[in-house]
Amino acid sequence: MGRKFFIGGNWKCNGTVEEVKKIVTVLNEAEVPSEDIVEVVVSPPFVFLPLVKSLLRSDFQVAAQNCWIRRGGAFTGEISAEMLVNLGIPWVILGHSERRSLLAESNEFVGDKVAYALSQGLKVIACVGETLEQRESGSTMAVVAAQTKAIAEKVSSWDNIVLAYEPVWAIGTGKVATPAQAQEVHCELRKWLHDNAGDEVAASTRIIYGGSVNGANCKELTTQLDVDGFLVGGASLKPEFIDIIKSATVKKSA
Ligand code: PGA
Repeated sequence: MGRKFFIGGNWKCNGTVEEVKKIVTVLNEAEVPSEDIVEVVVSPPFVFLPLVKSLLRSDFQVAAQNCWIRRGGAFTGEISAEMLVNLGIPWVILGHSERRSLLAESNEFVGDKVAYALSQGLKVIACVGETLEQRESGSTMAVVAAQTKAIAEKVSSWDNIVLAYEPVWAIGTGKVATPAQAQEVHCELRKWLHDNAGDEVAASTRIIYGGSVNGANCKELTTQLDVDGFLVGGASLKPEFIDIIKSATVKKSA
């Protein structure tokens, strides 16, 4: 079976109740390809998760933007995987570069978080990606392979993981990777999965691209063989997110 196109909307630390309701209204009124063609998951800040979940159309799902590394307890300010499960939140984004860099989350820490979230029944959008310096020094593949390895070592199944390749230099910069640059890394990541996790995992795991995706550049990226969808930041707060969701039909007919 082919890999179903996946569109994630990462709202990051943005929004008020009023703004969130407006975004959900736009999403709810949009005509988009059916669930057989595209899986859509939006990720509001924690405090808006129950509101968004209650208002959002049933063919779209929600994700948290993070969760704690293990069982909850005396960890002030953290949200546990158990709490997300308790609220019926199916997905969580882990290892986003903003957390890796600003909050010093190491590869091992992210790997442990992914494993714990999966063990609690959550599905995970796991992010990897190199900085500009790393790209310029030619270590892109070594960096994303090490990030992926730290996850692979801790998990027994890739069934509930979507791997998001997000070059740090492309995030929030307006400087999108070229389709060829994205394809090159996605293809290498799939090879890595093939060599380290097996044929089946490589063939079925969705590898999505993130970093300055918008309504204008998504179609060309979609045509790349190993691009199975997008993780969208800035543009997921705008109506053009609908155009990005619709790019799934370009993939379908490619
Ligand atoms: P961006 O963010 O689309 O605003 O570049 C992507 C992300 O960080 O997931």
